[in-house]
Amino acid sequence: MIKIILVAGARPNFMKIAPLMDAFRARPQIKAVLVHTGQHYDPAMSDLFFQQLGIPEPDVNLGVGSASHAIQTAEIMRAFEPIILAKKPDAVLVVGDVNSTIACGLVAVKLGVRLIHVEAGLRSFDRTMPEEINRILTDAISDVLFCSEQSGVENLRREGVPEEKSHLVGNVMIDTLLKYREKAEQSKILDDLGLNDGRPYAVVTLHRPVNVDVPENFGRILMALEEISREIPVIFPVHPRTRTMMRQLNLGTTSYHSEDTFSAHSAPPNLLLVEPLGYLDFLKLMAHARIVLTDSGGIQEETTILKIPCLTLRENTERPVTVEMGTNRLVGSDPRLIIQAYRDVSASFPKRQSFPVPPLWDGRAAERIADILELILK
Ligand code: UD1
Repeated sequence: MIKIILVAGARPNFMKIAPLMDAFRARPQIKAVLVHTGQHYDPAMSDLFFQQLGIPEPDVNLGVGSASHAIQTAEIMRAFEPIILAKKPDAVLVVGDVNSTIACGLVAVKLGVRLIHVEAGLRSFDRTMPEEINRILTDAISDVLFCSEQSGVENLRREGVPEEKSHLVGNVMIDTLLKYREKAEQSKILDDLGLNDGRPYAVVTLHRPVNVDVPENFGRILMALEEISREIPVIFPVHPRTRTMMRQLNLGTTSYHSEDTFSAHSAPPNLLLVEPLGYLDFLKLMAHARIVLTDSGGIQEETTILKIPCLTLRENTERPVTVEMGTNRLVGSDPRLIIQAYRDVSASFPKRQSFPVPPLWDGRAAERIADILELILK
């Protein structure tokens, strides 16, 4: 019997943990223990995803919550250490690049427990991003590294990770997308938002500190969104970090059904701010959009599989395969470039079917990971 603790902390972790829990629980040789750090705790950012993705209740919730990077990371470490001591796992598995990933990884290796990193090797080469630091450090201490795209394998090789430690297995987040793609069609989100008449619309998400915590950058992006919303409706589910910033900048509060969005600056009626959406609603919204504008990592990948054009509001990406496949384009935060890219994409619509899919993004990544772990850890 191999006992593995899986760690989930923040929203993008949940879609990655779900297929791994499914794959592990189906194998008699593996005992999976799920730990939620509590980095994300709002029902809309956490509980809803557990329900919709059929993730079992965590065995342990560390209940850490929000704080500065140092405090959040330290609190997760402090709370996770006694869990490892009590549960005595053979390995700890962490996903992605959030603070929970590095915090739990560090605790595991210092207690001599093998560390598995899923989504290893991705690099934006931008060390001002907290996630980039988390990625580099987690990979440096991991024993088994699972990559979602070839660039990850190459980055690890360049950093001196022995080849036998890294495995190209595909993308667990895409396992989840393919599993729920059909079910998401039952979502009523397009009716709720008045978009069920087939007209084109755009979807926006924004939460990177560089875009929302720097008022000048945030303002420039909002200008571009306002401009686009003169042509087509722009739906913007607002992340808690972004909502906090909007309040501070007096950009009004967000509310799903309320009219008072952007109250202070009175946003154009076609720029619709809504609460963060659940997985199925968001998947449906994205799948039917004409275009998606985002600074998220996962959404760049999801739009690649959905074959929806994506403008990434960043200067770089740690997921270059999404650009190679042709769906994703890096546009930064300059409003002129964002609007120009939007017009280019609109002019070439629809061209969906011509985009290829990255190797191994086929819905079986978690099974491959389980196969490899059964061999390595037995
Ligand atoms: C974190 C990850 C980021 C990931 C993102 C997805 C790190 C360094 N960053 O960023 O990589 O893309 O999650 O969402 O780990 N808050 C709530 N409710 C919650 C969670 C957060 O209101 O459930 C608010 C708090 O005010 C908090 C702020 O959001 O201070 C930011 O949360 P935090 O977890 O620190 O970082 P994210 O910006 O969510």
